[in-house]
Amino acid sequence: MGNLLTMGDLSAEEIKKILADANNFSKDEGWAPNQSAFIANLFFEPSTRTKSSFEMAERKLGLQVIPFEANTSSVLKGETLYDTVKTLQSIGLSAVVIRHEKDRYFDELSNINIPIINGGDGCGHHPTQCLLDLLTIHQEFGSFTDLNIAIIGDILHSRVARSNSEALMRLGANVCFSGPPEWFDRQIIANGSYLPIDEAIQTADVVMLLRIQHERHQEHLQLTKQQYHEQYGLTIAREKSMKPDSIIMHPAPVNRNVEIASALVECGRSRIFKQMENGVYVRMAVLKRALQTPMEREMEYVII
Ligand code: CP
Repeated sequence: MGNLLTMGDLSAEEIKKILADANNFSKDEGWAPNQSAFIANLFFEPSTRTKSSFEMAERKLGLQVIPFEANTSSVLKGETLYDTVKTLQSIGLSAVVIRHEKDRYFDELSNINIPIINGGDGCGHHPTQCLLDLLTIHQEFGSFTDLNIAIIGDILHSRVARSNSEALMRLGANVCFSGPPEWFDRQIIANGSYLPIDEAIQTADVVMLLRIQHERHQEHLQLTKQQYHEQYGLTIAREKSMKPDSIIMHPAPVNRNVEIASALVECGRSRIFKQMENGVYVRMAVLKRALQTPMEREMEYVII
């Protein structure tokens, strides 16, 4: 089944196939499902980018999008996530996209027989964000091998840091981390290194900044926004120390003048809005993978 729950569901070859498909979708070289397919986006946490770009991807593929709003559904009457998804499977949906605040919410959905695409689980995983980040990096550098990627900020609470570091290391990149020591996650940084902020920024090909995930914090950091910006943010001065061809990325939403100076959000090095554009193409490719049969997928095997 074409589940995409974590980046661990994809081999390196499958990642490359999704990036190749996304590139084709960006050139309007399309694919359409063989038969009418119905899909719903179940977002139990706020989202601007992931939800709207999935909907855009679905509509571009000609899928029938069944509206679902958690706050007007029977979730409010105590329905479990399993019963909600089982209901949508029973009425004929072909696949579901789910974002949920619970880490690994999908473990309780193992008996569901339609593909599940994870749009983010708590502090756990965000595979489609990872894939759109990989596409953006690949467009820029043509390869991942020996690229220096600095992931900076709230590592502990970031599902993007988890998905990206795992995939980037697997694809041959060197990943380093920086930010407040209180927010390290030993599991995430196990195979990377820690660098002080200035060194991380000066040596990186990709400076990847993370938002402070206040909604997931048990204890709050004792720093003002200004202090955080000066100690751990990409300031105007730090941007000047970056290598000539290095780029800035951020999964967004951005907290301007906290993790990144507002003037840098749309500067020449920034790929932040390019990441969002790529999100539509990557999600088209992920939906294609979810809706194809295993045989159809095998017959299309291509390496970029
Ligand atoms: N990057 C990301 O997941 O953004 P949203 O929370 O707006 O979907």
